[in-house]
Amino acid sequence: MANRTRALLTLACLACAATGWLAAQDLPDGNPYTGDAEAIRTGMGLYRLNCADCHGVDATGVRGPDITGVWAAGRTDAGLFQTVRNGVAGTEMIPPRRARDDEIWKILAYLRTLATPTAAAASTGDAANGAEIFGQNCSGCHRVNAAGGRLGPDLSRIGSARSRATLISHVREGSRPRSNSGYAPVALTTDEGRAVRGVTKNEDMFSIQVMEVEGRIQGYAKDGLEALEKPDGSLMPVFGPDRLSDADLEDLLAYLETLRGFDPAVP
Ligand code: HEC
Ligand code: HEC
Repeated sequence: MANRTRALLTLACLACAATGWLAAQDLPDGNPYTGDAEAIRTGMGLYRLNCADCHGVDATGVRGPDITGVWAAGRTDAGLFQTVRNGVAGTEMIPPRRARDDEIWKILAYLRTLATPTAAAASTGDAANGAEIFGQNCSGCHRVNAAGGRLGPDLSRIGSARSRATLISHVREGSRPRSNSGYAPVALTTDEGRAVRGVTKNEDMFSIQVMEVEGRIQGYAKDGLEALEKPDGSLMPVFGPDRLSDADLEDLLAYLETLRGFDPAVP
């Protein structure tokens, strides 16, 4: 398992290095604006407007990953330029709207000023034990590589998509669904008196489609319901230290960090 993950990571790195190299042929070797104070100031404004919502004002990650360690992790200016200009297919990382190439370089010149000399520290936990903890506490609601429940989001890429701090806060302090994310909790009662709990997948004026906690998707006509409520909060339980010790959390994080993409080799 650990070996396979390592092999896959190596393959993924080779692949990104290769595409970075191909694409880099037309690009300058380095950022033309590195160290240019005026460009960095412009880049800061553009970063705050286009990127800070997901990556945080200090770039240590909110809905997106910590990107202060990308240079230390070996990414090149040209490779990062491609990531920002093209986004990452199939993820929330979409390119900024209408950004010119020089604006992307300026954003990167600003980001460089926030960069840390070391890559984000990998978790010191035991990923194999973390995988077991995940199996016992999380996979009932979360799929990883096509196995697991569907009440919560697929976590197959969560290790590249979220910072460590964000993962800890989801587990320890409770998660918060964004509205229309497909995970907003719903509680309804049918006119036969059956109580249903789940998350809202789709809704219009007349009907609502629910992923029920039992794991099936079911549509309901609203005029056939006795009650329809949208409770606050999340269906994801809070895992305080009473349910998950600090050592187990560290192991769980070590496992989550290995989740960096869908692995079709695992049935
Ligand atoms: C809607 C949220 C969102 C916005 C807005 C966003 N990002 Fe991202 N970004 C992400 C996510 C999620 C990822 C991880 C994608 C994945 O799963 O690999 C990511 C990945 C990245 C990476 C790659 C990190 C790595 O280790 O390879 C860079 C660099 C990056 N973003 C920079 C930016 C910049 C610069 C902007 C603004 C122009 C921006 N992002 C805007 C969500 C966002
Ligand atoms: C009863 C179902 C349930 C269980 C059990 C559960 N989760 Fe969740 N989780 C959810 C739902 C639903 C969401 C969607 C967002 C929300 O409601 O906050 C979520 C969101 C998340 C997110 C945020 C995903 C993102 O894209 O940002 C992470 C990370 C996460 N869960 C990790 C875990 C871990 C780790 C465990 C086990 C310790 C776990 N969850 C157990 C239901 C669950």
